[in-house]
Amino acid sequence: MIYLDNAATSFVKPNEVKKEVINSINFFTANPGRSGHKLSLDVALKVYETRENVKRFFNAENYELAFTKNCTEALNLAIFGSLKRGDHVITTCYEHNSILRPLERLKQNGVEVTILFEDMENLAEKINKEIKQNTKMVITTFVSNVTGEVCDIESVSKICKHKKILYLVDAAQACGHIEIDLQKLDVDMLAFAGHKGLLSITGVGGLLIKNLNNLTPIICGGTGTESENLIQPKDSIEGFESGTIPTISIFSLNAGVNFLNKNFQKIIKKEENLSKYAHFCLKKLNFLEIYSKESSKNVFSFNIKNLDSAYVSNVLNEKYNICVRSGLHCAPLVHKKLNTTEIGAVRVSLDFNNTFEEIDYLVRALKEISNS
Ligand code: ALA
Repeated sequence: MIYLDNAATSFVKPNEVKKEVINSINFFTANPGRSGHKLSLDVALKVYETRENVKRFFNAENYELAFTKNCTEALNLAIFGSLKRGDHVITTCYEHNSILRPLERLKQNGVEVTILFEDMENLAEKINKEIKQNTKMVITTFVSNVTGEVCDIESVSKICKHKKILYLVDAAQACGHIEIDLQKLDVDMLAFAGHKGLLSITGVGGLLIKNLNNLTPIICGGTGTESENLIQPKDSIEGFESGTIPTISIFSLNAGVNFLNKNFQKIIKKEENLSKYAHFCLKKLNFLEIYSKESSKNVFSFNIKNLDSAYVSNVLNEKYNICVRSGLHCAPLVHKKLNTTEIGAVRVSLDFNNTFEEIDYLVRALKEISNS
């Protein structure tokens, strides 16, 4: 089987991650921050260490980190926890439904939403032109989950800072594939998934938050702190993590980040070479319409003439044992821009475990499908 669906979730988890899952199930199963016994305290300490380790990975020691169950929940927290009636928010057509749907709901509650349909190039200038008196937030993806295009986060961040506007970044497809340095990028909030590039099991994501004062919790409940108070606490990170947190997933994230810390430069180089090779090979196929760029990171979408993308991905699966994702990838507006709403697109997404030979095999399969 050839797995080219790493944008959905990474398939090969490092042995260190697998071992940590078993270790955590065996020895760290108590509920942290609740009871006072030794096991509960040990788990709480391990959660604390993981939080600090993940923050270090993003060079984000001065940020708070709220663990969530996935990137969608982190984005919901950032969006619903920051915007209110009368606010204006600017975003792009490249966004996932985990941003577009919360914004659509907020629109019905009096939040103004501007969605830019332009290309990613010079995005900061384009955003700048849309800023109004009541603009409260800008939201962009880091890497498109459809085209693999990379947003110039630093330039957008500078403009937001200058205009005193919050900047939220969706790093679902960037984390673990691109070095993310929050001292340099200086964004207000960055949401990430654990189970993709950070190589954890599913069940954990996170929101890095520069200033907790900008945010209100969206889930209320037990925090293990201030229990006498019926008002949801919001001045410490526990207030943003009500309910029992997914400790096993969180500890697997710690192991994933440790693995990346040891191997990151090698991983980045390998993924760069694979990406260049994939784009080069796909671009040569004159029967393909390719929607990604030479600079795209790990994610490449295309169609064979006017064949439905679901049909092509089905043949790749059934006949060639190649896993890809077709359709709209939960990002309908970028497909509107690409004019692929009807047939969707076939998406190939790589990580460092893939090989050049697998790309060659994909190319042969696509040629055969196109000729059949
Ligand atoms: N958002 C994930 C993807 O693009 C699931 O496939």
